[in-house]
Amino acid sequence: MTSTSPAPGTRATPADQRIAADDAITAALSRIRRNIATFGGAYPDDTTVDDRYQVRPAEGGIPVGGNRGWTTSFRTGMLWLAWEFTGDAAYRDAALVDAADFERRVRAEEDLDTHDLGFLYTLSTVAAWRLVDDEDARQASLLAADHLMRRFLEPAGIIQAWGDLSDPAQRGRTIIDSLMNMPLLTWAHEQTGEGRFADAVARHTAQLREHILREDDSTFHTFYWDAETGEPLRGATEQGAFDESCWARGQAWGIYGFAMNYAVTGDERLLDASRRCTEYFLRHLPADEVPFWDLVYTDGSDAPRDSSAAAIAVCGLLELAKVETDAARAAEWTARAHAMLASLIANYTPATPEDSDALILHSVYDLPKGNGVDEGTLWGDYFYLEALMRVARPTWRKYW
Ligand code: GLY
Repeated sequence: MTSTSPAPGTRATPADQRIAADDAITAALSRIRRNIATFGGAYPDDTTVDDRYQVRPAEGGIPVGGNRGWTTSFRTGMLWLAWEFTGDAAYRDAALVDAADFERRVRAEEDLDTHDLGFLYTLSTVAAWRLVDDEDARQASLLAADHLMRRFLEPAGIIQAWGDLSDPAQRGRTIIDSLMNMPLLTWAHEQTGEGRFADAVARHTAQLREHILREDDSTFHTFYWDAETGEPLRGATEQGAFDESCWARGQAWGIYGFAMNYAVTGDERLLDASRRCTEYFLRHLPADEVPFWDLVYTDGSDAPRDSSAAAIAVCGLLELAKVETDAARAAEWTARAHAMLASLIANYTPATPEDSDALILHSVYDLPKGNGVDEGTLWGDYFYLEALMRVARPTWRKYW
């Protein structure tokens, strides 16, 4: 790992964290500015290769650098955060170019067969609406929410994760990441008053709480329902070590996603689910607070870390602390989030600007498929910057 100080496992004091956060924000913003110059309107790929982002390859009729897949909006989200940090119009203008492209994508119905419409449209067009009142962006966000609703399966009461709804391999399958896609539907409910959006959020999150969270407080990555009868069938993994293991990023999505959906549904079982995901995650961290890519690995393992899971967990813990009804627990979630962020800053950022164009190093996309192992990732970078925003400006209003 590229390391400055303190050494891995050393917890920074609160004063150290404040200083490190300021320096970390400056370093992150200079990388984002450089990436604007490098990529312009073209999108980088999901992960770095040897710590450098490449332009997104062509696929499925979408040209090189085009807006496809589930991760392009993390670049847009970083641009919005950079604008909020600095007030520099160059970041806002670049974010608006992306938002217009997301509007084009949904109107052209390009690469929309995914529940990740939530990730894609929350950080691009919903953020544009929230931050600069862009009416075209609002309309595009509502269209995306409508598309997401087409994936709601009755009688199971779940939103199918991946692929065409008629694909037998994907039919009735959910994944824990989907909790982060619900805010698009919550936002659509707030905008339109249509109960179908809120009903889908309440039912989908309750089903995941019931079936994707296991008795020992770990989570399955994916879970299948019988799409015809609605019967819950079985848990499995796609990106974890094995079906019964606990994929680190999935557990982090659970911390953040259950907390956010508790806040909007008021369903106490979701608060409990977020706490349980948190406790399991924290119990399985190595000494330097950044998890291995799957929580079956612990101190002494030479398995790769997933720094993106830590960045998501920091944001999730800070969100959980906000909605937590028990003050002592809220203080604990905040302290652990700060310790994890301090380790990310000290141990997982590039030591020099030349080392990488990612904000944080040492993430894993999909180890079983050998995809993006020990690399920077667009989502790791986004959640790291969101974590810095949450710490530097505690009154910041999230895009989710
Ligand atoms: N949402 C896909 C992932 O976390 O890799």
